[in-house]
Amino acid sequence: MTRILNYLKPYWYLITAALVLVFFQSMAELYLPTLMADIVDTGIVNGDVNYIISVGIKMLLVALGGAFSAVMATFFSSRASMGLGKTLREEIFKHVEGFSINEFDSFGAASLITRTTNDVTQIQMVTMMSLRMVATAPIMAIGGIIMALSRAPSISWIFLVVIPVIALVMVIVSRISVPLFGSIQKKIDTLNRVLRENLTGVRVIRAFNRVDYENKRFNKANLDLTNTAIRVNRLMAGLMPIIMFIFNMTTIAIIWFGSVRIDRGIIQVGDLMAFIQYATLIMSSVMMISMIFIMYPRASASAERINEVLDTTPEIIDPVRPQIPAEIKGVVEFRDVTFRYPGAEEPVLSNITFGAEPGKTTAIIGSTGAGKTTLLNLIMRFYDAEKGSILIDGVDIREIPQDVLRSNIGYVPQRSTLFTGTIADNIRYGKDDATDDEVRHAASIAQALDFIEEMDDKFDTIISEGGTNVSGGQKQRLCIARAIIRRPKIYIFDDSFSALDFKTDARLRHALHKETKNATVIMVAQRVATIMDADQIVVLDEGRIVGIGTHKELYKNCDVYRDIVLSQLSEEEVVL
Ligand code: CTP
Ligand code: MG
Repeated sequence: MTRILNYLKPYWYLITAALVLVFFQSMAELYLPTLMADIVDTGIVNGDVNYIISVGIKMLLVALGGAFSAVMATFFSSRASMGLGKTLREEIFKHVEGFSINEFDSFGAASLITRTTNDVTQIQMVTMMSLRMVATAPIMAIGGIIMALSRAPSISWIFLVVIPVIALVMVIVSRISVPLFGSIQKKIDTLNRVLRENLTGVRVIRAFNRVDYENKRFNKANLDLTNTAIRVNRLMAGLMPIIMFIFNMTTIAIIWFGSVRIDRGIIQVGDLMAFIQYATLIMSSVMMISMIFIMYPRASASAERINEVLDTTPEIIDPVRPQIPAEIKGVVEFRDVTFRYPGAEEPVLSNITFGAEPGKTTAIIGSTGAGKTTLLNLIMRFYDAEKGSILIDGVDIREIPQDVLRSNIGYVPQRSTLFTGTIADNIRYGKDDATDDEVRHAASIAQALDFIEEMDDKFDTIISEGGTNVSGGQKQRLCIARAIIRRPKIYIFDDSFSALDFKTDARLRHALHKETKNATVIMVAQRVATIMDADQIVVLDEGRIVGIGTHKELYKNCDVYRDIVLSQLSEEEVVL
């Protein structure tokens, strides 16, 4: 929590202003009952109308001043706490952007979203309330006691009874509510996760008639959260009548014991009235102080969840003394690379050694789960190798700043991902400042021009969320165009032609060949036809390289490769 509150520092002037105003407000509230007592005891008792009017005007001014201070204090404290919220969200977002894939996996998207939104809101709320209460409550409690004592010392012993009673009630309430608050945040996480899965998986849910099942799942998470929230709220709602009861009983007690003393002439009527008001002030401040103690754990639970995010140091960070190859040509080299996913027992890739050169196409083939995508992810530095090293132009990629590394790579992921925006926006994602001609050119190489031209708004056609309004093959081609437009030194295609028909596949590869004349092309493919004419084919089997060579060589020498080929082509089609 202290760490989070550090982010309040830039708003010190707002906080100071709020605290000063809150002080004025408290002073006004403390002063009012005294003035009132004066009116009663001096003005009314003596029948002095002028006195009543002049003190009345004074009361009015003090009340107005108090109200104005209260309004302004709220204004400043809201500004400060909303500012804190903004800063926190910004910090979390910035930090999460630096996460490598491992860290994303360990938190989960739903929880990261809750932490950035709901948890920050909790802290924001508590900060705002605390800014108002932290200063008011002690001033009013202490000031109230002093004033009450000065007015009617003989009945002040009542506080000795009442304050402990209120404190006890609050302690009990906090004992019950604090654990509930912690579990509410976790339940919001769950609800978010279920909701997200439902929204993204809606097609599968429909297709498998799982709407009812999903409804139940959502209802369960929803009800779970609701029940906990109801328990907390019931408690808080129950608190109010109890507190009111204590307040009223206190007032009765004050009047009871006070009236006797008025009768005996020890205290005056106005004093008693003021005393009642001070009593209320004191009791409310005790309640406020306890509220802070109840709310604080909730905020600190949220703060902890936020700190967890902020404290996670991304595993993949830029080198302290970065090295940038003088000229990036695009020579990629794997040296005895072994890699395993966090928590996995067996390595996914073992002893991978091969090189890929500019102007040449290196193809990687292997059955599903062989580790092809993983291998490409290592070049992108989404993960770091456990053993061995990957070099680009002789420099270990861990020595190269991530943005330099990635800006030289045109990556087409296995799962095509597009963003909301126009087609042109999506292609420009690869290069912000690309001209219209460049966008067009990239689209034409990717064989996307035909279908784009057929659309009503051509390049300005809006891609809907998740790219659902284009076909799988169209999506793939837009992703390819996005990589091509960067004119990178290294192209990485992860099974990027799988959704294309043979004819488009061949045309695309032909066009690409010209475009990538001086670049290194690393291409994963399932279809032998796609990679047959590659300069070099790497055959992966269960994370190991079982053959490197041309189609011809491998067909002769590599069993795994021959099996793959024969499962797809007939003997006659195997051009040697
Ligand atoms: N794997 C994993 N954790 C991940 C991703 C993958 O444990 N976050 C495992 C998979 O279970 C698989 C192996 O790593 O056994 C290789 O995965 P991948 O590289 O994705 O295989 P590909 O060869 O790309 O398979 P495909 O042809 O199906 O794309
Ligand atoms: Mg893959």
